[in-house]
Amino acid sequence: MKKWFAFLLGFSVVLVIVACEKTAVSALDEELKDAMSKTVSSGDIRDYLLPDGSDYSKIPNQDAKNPINSFKVALGKMLFYETGIGLVGHDGALKQTYSCSSCHIPSMGFTPGRFQGIADGAVGFGDHGEGRHKSELYLGEEVDAQGARPLTMHNLAYVTNTLWSGTFGSFGTNVGTEHAWSGEDTLVQINFLGLEGLEANNFRALQVHRQLVNRQITDSLGYTALFDAAFPDIPHSERYSLKTTAFAIAAYFRTILTNKAPFQEWIKGDASAMTEQQKRGAIVFFTKGHCTNCHQGPALNAMRYEAVGVNDLYESGHEVFRTGPNDKRNLGRGGFTKDPRDYYKFKVPQLYNLKHTQFYFHGSSKTSLEEVVDYFDAAVPENPRVPVEQLSPVFRPLYLSAQEKADLVEFLRNGLYDPFIERYVPSSVMSGNCFPNNDHYSKRDLGCN
Ligand code: HEC
Ligand code: HEC
Repeated sequence: MKKWFAFLLGFSVVLVIVACEKTAVSALDEELKDAMSKTVSSGDIRDYLLPDGSDYSKIPNQDAKNPINSFKVALGKMLFYETGIGLVGHDGALKQTYSCSSCHIPSMGFTPGRFQGIADGAVGFGDHGEGRHKSELYLGEEVDAQGARPLTMHNLAYVTNTLWSGTFGSFGTNVGTEHAWSGEDTLVQINFLGLEGLEANNFRALQVHRQLVNRQITDSLGYTALFDAAFPDIPHSERYSLKTTAFAIAAYFRTILTNKAPFQEWIKGDASAMTEQQKRGAIVFFTKGHCTNCHQGPALNAMRYEAVGVNDLYESGHEVFRTGPNDKRNLGRGGFTKDPRDYYKFKVPQLYNLKHTQFYFHGSSKTSLEEVVDYFDAAVPENPRVPVEQLSPVFRPLYLSAQEKADLVEFLRNGLYDPFIERYVPSSVMSGNCFPNNDHYSKRDLGCN
């Protein structure tokens, strides 16, 4: 009898402990749900859900001139990585060695794995992009590089106006900015075509990044039948072009959604998808951190421009090309609109898959998520050129504890990290070339030989 009693007692103690742990977990879940629901007008936390990338009808902000279909997505999924169309480089010797993905590497959160992206004019890859460097064949001003850290390619379905300045796209935040479309920057005239941001952006990007597509090229690389399948309604004379290439890549972009991140699985109802620390961090994000003052909706971004006073790329302490104190990119939205009220204001970026990004903010001024969180916590602008009156009124000290900051970082780093991004990357491209880069050193680094 005594034995039985001891056993029962022990058993009930275990039961009580298990029950307590369970309630502890679900109290945290309830607290997070409650915090999140207060940040959306519907009160429904599913407002933060990203759609399934294969259910095209659920993908927002499509271009009426370029509805998504699976042929476009399949084609864009290769062309974005295709080094074979890198045909108008500055020096013939580096022809067909670079691609869009030279600066947007999927495993690095679609950033270059270094402080600045360089496509034509650079060689090498290293382990993750950090080993790319200017070729001796080029002068600094001849390489293809821009004065801001490249933006990511996931969750672009939530980006109606592209670049840190929101320059491309005829609609959304660019309604009323028509005066700025015909200025000295002739690239912006594309906004008169009435396209969404991704279509306009990609069309221009293909030119800026020195790529070429025509019938002869699609024939020789093996893409002609894929263009036929994707664009049957476009006349042959226009079917194999930079414009259709841009449209295919835009369709592909809209399907790249980080919907397998733990936070997404948690919203769908899997309470065990996030750790307790990630849940605590999420609560900080939605309450004391006031991050949703700016980072909103399924992608935790916004088509809004805010000044948080960070440094520019030319002062990152690294050797950078084709930028400096007078780069209009340093003025953010104001560099595009020329309206002083927009000076130093940058687009609120999305927050998924930042784990491997390495360099944060438009000027690559931070190298870890810890530093980013410390920056928002202290709210002391690092860039003395940004006038105080330009700073966002909600860029204010947060007074988070060390534990709260660590929890918030863990939520950002792993709670918002979709580990299955490879599903959006092709196993090969039609040319059979190495990608993201195809120069001699990159091939060695990437194991392509
Ligand atoms: C030399 C590096 C480089 C290459 C190559 C490159 N990009 Fe980019 N990309 C950037 C930079 C830098 C930005 C941000 C520039 C800015 O905002 O001022 C950017 C931004 C973008 C954006 C805007 C995203 C957003 O959220 O607003 C899109 C879309 C994009 N690139 C697509 C492409 C496509 C398509 C190609 C190939 C045709 C390409 N990129 C090639 C560097 C590059
Ligand atoms: C005032 C609006 C605002 C608030 C509030 C805000 N952010 Fe941001 N966030 C931005 C803007 C704008 C940028 C881009 C700034 C730049 O690069 O010039 C940014 C950039 C970031 C980045 C870097 C992303 C990248 O691609 O480099 C992270 C991470 C981030 N914010 C997290 C947070 C967190 C966490 C909070 C809450 C503690 C927060 N933000 C609060 C506006 C805001």
